[in-house]
Amino acid sequence: MTPTFGSRAHFTEEGGAAVYAAVCAACHMPDGRGASGAGSYPALARNPDLATAAYPIAVVLLGQKAMPSFAETLSNQQIAEVIGYLRTHLGNNYTGDVTAAEIAAARVSKN
Ligand code: HEC
Repeated sequence: MTPTFGSRAHFTEEGGAAVYAAVCAACHMPDGRGASGAGSYPALARNPDLATAAYPIAVVLLGQKAMPSFAETLSNQQIAEVIGYLRTHLGNNYTGDVTAAEIAAARVSKN
C-alpha cells in the first residue's frame, strides 16, 4: 500500500516501527541513514536532534521545508509511537516516553 501524502485518510499501520517503515523510510531510508540525490534527507539514525522529543514532534506535525506535515494523516497515537520508536532505535538511546497526550497538546499549542 502506498500512503498518499496530503490525504485526510488515516494510515492503518500500528506501532512505531510499522509507521516508520510505511511512512518515513521512503525518504529517511529503512535504517535511518538519510539520503542525498534529487533531494537531501537528513539521517535520523544517531541524531542528537531527537534528544528533546518536542523537536521531532514539531517537525512531524508542522513539516519543515521539504519534509511534509503529517498532522492530518497520522493520529496522535501513531505520531507518539513513531517518535518513541525513533528515539530508542536506529542508534538513538533517549529516555522518556512520548505519549499521545503530548502530541495532542502540541497540536493545540501551535494554533
Ligand atoms: C517526503 C520525504 C519525507 C518523509 C516521508 C519524511 N520526512 Fe522527515 N524530513 C524530510 C526532509 C527533506 C527533512 C529536512 C527538512 C529541512 O530541510 O529542515 C526532514 C527532517 C526530519 C526531521 C528533522 C531532522 C533534524 O535533525 O533536524 C525529523 C525528526 C524527521 N524528518 C522525522 C520524520 C518522521 C518521523 C517521518 C515519518 C512520520 C518523516 N520524517 C517522513 C523528508 C521526509
